[in-house]
Amino acid sequence: MKPFRKWFGGKSEGEEAASALDSDNIPNHVAVIMDGNGRWAQKRGLPRVAGHHSGMKNVKKITMAANHIGVKVLTMYAFSTENWKRPKEEVEYLMKLPLEFFPKEIEELIANNVRIRMTGWPEGLPDYTLKTVQDAIDKTKHNTGLILNFALNYGSRKEMLSGIQRLAQDAKDGKVNPAEINEHLFSRYLLTDPLPDPDLLIRTSGELRISNFMLWQLAYSELWFTDLCWPEFTEPHFYEAIQEYQRRARRYGGL
Ligand code: FPP
Repeated sequence: MKPFRKWFGGKSEGEEAASALDSDNIPNHVAVIMDGNGRWAQKRGLPRVAGHHSGMKNVKKITMAANHIGVKVLTMYAFSTENWKRPKEEVEYLMKLPLEFFPKEIEELIANNVRIRMTGWPEGLPDYTLKTVQDAIDKTKHNTGLILNFALNYGSRKEMLSGIQRLAQDAKDGKVNPAEINEHLFSRYLLTDPLPDPDLLIRTSGELRISNFMLWQLAYSELWFTDLCWPEFTEPHFYEAIQEYQRRARRYGGL
């Protein structure tokens, strides 16, 4: 494992938890629904967007923690196709966060071999958001470490429907034999292709829902929920989720 922050010459709480993990059983893909930014801010008498800003800073911390223990893909649900229903000012604020995040963090992400990816529809996103995300994707495209995958303007039902439309068209054009459509083939028509399915889903803020997130891909994922809001979810909590994942026996419907 890579070196991690130390306190007072000893091991930090985070490092203690990280080194207690079974390094042969680290989830390849962890997906996160970063919920509770607004409530976190409101509890502190701050505007909702202050919660999003704090949440953005947390993306970096949890990315480094995931990278530290050898997670291969970390998907962060940053903006859903349903989030357009929020007040215009909040949407605008969220769309501008990548403009702060990438210029500030890109050097460190590159130094840590992190590769940026986006899962979602470019259509509808402001040009400035797309440009900064695309720029980060380009700058990190040769990196071979953790894939930091932003689910941005993403919704799972829409993803499946558009996959089905393309698949139906390919069948109509004679490129696909309908009798040969299987799970593997269908996965190739999803926006997440060629990523592996998440092994673990983390959702913060106490909500016990999937909220139209990776409905197909999460079929056999372990689910882990916490009452903590996203801005207060720190490295030790992340390792706690991984620890719990390691205690579970994944049977995929078998015995
Ligand atoms: C849900 O909390 C959170 C979001 C809709 C936005 C999440 C985005 C980030 C944490 C920043 C992402 C960073 C980059 C660089 C793209 P909520 O507002 O629904 O919380 P609430 O349920 O308490 O209202």
